[in-house]
Amino acid sequence: MAGKLMHAVWYEGYGAAAALKHAEVPVPSPKKNEVLLKVEATSLNPVDWKIQKGLLRPLFPRKFPHIPATDLAGEVVEVGPGVKNFSIGDKVVALLSHFSGGGLAEFAVAQGSLAVKRPPEVSAAEGAGLPVAGLTALQALTKSAGIKLDGSGKTANILITAASGGVGHYAVQLAKLGNTHVTATCGVRNIDLVKSLGADEILDYKTPDGVALKSPSGRKYDAVIHCATGIPWSTFEPNLSERGKVIDITPGPSSIMTCALKKLTFSKKQIVPLLLIPKGENLEYLVGLVKDGKLKTVVDSKHPLDKAEDAWSKSIDGHATGKIIVEP
Ligand SMILES: NC(=O)c1ccc[n+]([C@@H]2O[C@H](COP(=O)([O-])OP(=O)(O)OC[C@H]3O[C@@H](n4cnc5c(N)ncnc54)[C@H](OP(=O)(O)O)[C@@H]3O)[C@@H](O)[C@H]2O)c1
Repeated sequence: MAGKLMHAVWYEGYGAAAALKHAEVPVPSPKKNEVLLKVEATSLNPVDWKIQKGLLRPLFPRKFPHIPATDLAGEVVEVGPGVKNFSIGDKVVALLSHFSGGGLAEFAVAQGSLAVKRPPEVSAAEGAGLPVAGLTALQALTKSAGIKLDGSGKTANILITAASGGVGHYAVQLAKLGNTHVTATCGVRNIDLVKSLGADEILDYKTPDGVALKSPSGRKYDAVIHCATGIPWSTFEPNLSERGKVIDITPGPSSIMTCALKKLTFSKKQIVPLLLIPKGENLEYLVGLVKDGKLKTVVDSKHPLDKAEDAWSKSIDGHATGKIIVEP
């Protein structure tokens, strides 16, 4: 593919959706331990536009212009030196690095260790939804909250906030693989969907009980998978069981302060900030669950690469139900 050009969407500095530009750029070449993928579907995550807004500077992006997006499904078209587990023609799901991005393009280079084979039962859009959102839901439940997804643990009461979003909709389904009672918050339009994903009880987040996160059946939560933002510790605290934990996936300064304070005072109730750790074996597990019909990706909307800015604006709006997909 060396010397060939491809359609990509990039930005040249921090900005808004209007700053996304369409460009013809060289197809990248896979280096050692990398594969070149022909992209079939890419999903967006809020972190993609947060990087563009400069909220994660100076860490991300590494340089401008930057082709954003990290979650994709595609076909292996070239294999770099040292790659043993993939051949040309393999269909895969891959997680790219947030430093380099590359997902909003016709071709992208992925680390072999963060790509997994995609069986025919898993569509490109379903697979592309999984990496950041699915891995975050999985790690929040299993690593941070200690839920065993083989159902072997003792019953845990879980609250999942923003259960209709990218992370939340996977979290509800994964939590129900364990021995859990799941209460979920969402807007009224998504109540039936979130119930169909397995939630036992729903709180409409705009009602007084929803704002107070009060369990309809009077339960106290052993863990909260907190996928919404802007809810203070004082709202969580009275709803937690004796050793209840809030797993905060968007930790801001106040939740980091509360976390430190709870640790220093040996509080039994804790708030735990979570940062996703990319792991190929976790991604393989999620793809396997989709193949077996135990997990599904709810697709909010699909957008052609030509109209990637519409997908970008939709993600910024914050009202996606499931995953926003871009297709070359
Ligand atoms: N720590 C990490 O490594 C990590 C990884 C992934 C994501 N995150 C962060 O986690 C957050 C969620 O990500 P996401 O991909 O799930 O976002 P998303 O898909 O954009 O979430 C949108 C959904 O959230 C719902 N929602 C918004 N506010 C709500 C509230 N107060 N109560 C209940 N539902 C609410 C919306 O419902 P309505 O339309 O009805 O309002 C919508 O369905 C983002 O801040 C993201 O940056 C962090």
